[in-house]
Amino acid sequence: MRAALENALREAVRTGRLPPAARLPSSRALSEDLQIARNTVAEAYAQLVGEGWLVAKQGSGTHVAGQVPATRQVASPAAAEVTRFRYDLRAGSPDLSSFPRSEWLSAARRALVGAPAEAFGYTDPRGRPELRAALAGYLARARGVRAAPERIVICSGFTQSFGLLCQVLRARGATSLTTEAYGLSSNHDTVTAAGMGVQTLRVDERGALVEELTYTDAALLTPAHQFPLGQALAAARRTQVIQWAVATAGLVIEDDYDGEFRYDRQPVGALQSLAPEHVVYAGTASKTLAPGLRLGWLVLPAHLIDDVAAAKAAADRHTSVLDQLTLAELISCGGYDRHVRRRRLAYRRRRDRFVAELHRHAPQLRVLGIAAGLHALLQLPQGHTENEVVARAARRGLAIEGLNAYRHTDQPHQPALVIGYASPPDHAFTGALARLVAVLDDPPRPG
Ligand SMILES: Cc1ncc(COP(=O)(O)O)c(C=O)c1O
Repeated sequence: MRAALENALREAVRTGRLPPAARLPSSRALSEDLQIARNTVAEAYAQLVGEGWLVAKQGSGTHVAGQVPATRQVASPAAAEVTRFRYDLRAGSPDLSSFPRSEWLSAARRALVGAPAEAFGYTDPRGRPELRAALAGYLARARGVRAAPERIVICSGFTQSFGLLCQVLRARGATSLTTEAYGLSSNHDTVTAAGMGVQTLRVDERGALVEELTYTDAALLTPAHQFPLGQALAAARRTQVIQWAVATAGLVIEDDYDGEFRYDRQPVGALQSLAPEHVVYAGTASKTLAPGLRLGWLVLPAHLIDDVAAAKAAADRHTSVLDQLTLAELISCGGYDRHVRRRRLAYRRRRDRFVAELHRHAPQLRVLGIAAGLHALLQLPQGHTENEVVARAARRGLAIEGLNAYRHTDQPHQPALVIGYASPPDHAFTGALARLVAVLDDPPRPG
């Protein structure tokens, strides 16, 4: 009760609902209003006085401090963006408001009650056995991955998974890693930070041109759904890249970031199943549940497990046990599959609305990469540039990104936007779509 009151008061001061110097009710009055013990109110006030949110003067009661505590003055970048952008259609996030709070909470409760005491100590750097066992079953049935629990390492999202892999590869003598010419630029930073050079592979409508892989130690691919262009790697190229890996002892790293979300047919199974000793499968809960969880997993060839587990132990010993046990429980009770099924249906409806709306208002625009995932590519008509459309959207309070933000090649492309149609909460989706249509309706500005 006291903590809830403190939080509510901090929030009221932080947002300005209680302005500086405002007088607070006496502890007696507030305790009567809220039907709580007077001591609880007095203790909450004292705590907030100690933290600098409130001031108490003998004889004149308790007031909001004139000077805000230092931590309140520093707006986080995210907070700054919230005020700047009313709507956000950038790719990279699922609808955060769809996080299955009550299922997660019940799973957490069950996991906590059932956890042995040893679970709360330092654990295997690969992760809790409960989660590795649950994931082995899930990945086999949902993604066709050939996964045994002892081959799995739980990480803090794909970001950490890929960072650890790069470190291990470099320590084993690798000097170069190839990525797709379009992708996350943070991946390039990770490769160079590990001391390797980055090469890039061109991408066409059948995915990465893997036949152009020459000398390189490893290739990072998004085979199920190229990020951000949106196509699946063609069947012939899947075989080709495996042949390359086998022939050259190269390693394929399969970033399966949104493989569960395919709408028009069965999901494309994981490449890993074709050659588990040559492909590292990397999955994440960032799209299925939420990126804030920081939960991801690697399914590794036998020869990499010990080194990756050692790198994970050196990085942070292991990922949080409570989150691992909760996810294990959510998968085992069927809640994770149910959530993914529900989200797939919801995102598919969103995608259909997005495509229909654009078709109605801007039939000349091509929308690509819509068979799967949480984003689409929107090619811009002649005369528009990505920067100009992105800036125009920003002036209308809409955050979007151009394809250039993901380009790692000198080759130009037809200007396009990467639209994360899954990101807004349901209540904001219609508004976000309307803003996008309005931005696209504006005539291009010269220059
Ligand atoms: C291509 C790609 N891979 C992986 C991820 C997930 O990264 P993480 O698991 O670190 O959140 C994302 C998230 O946006 C992504 O776009």
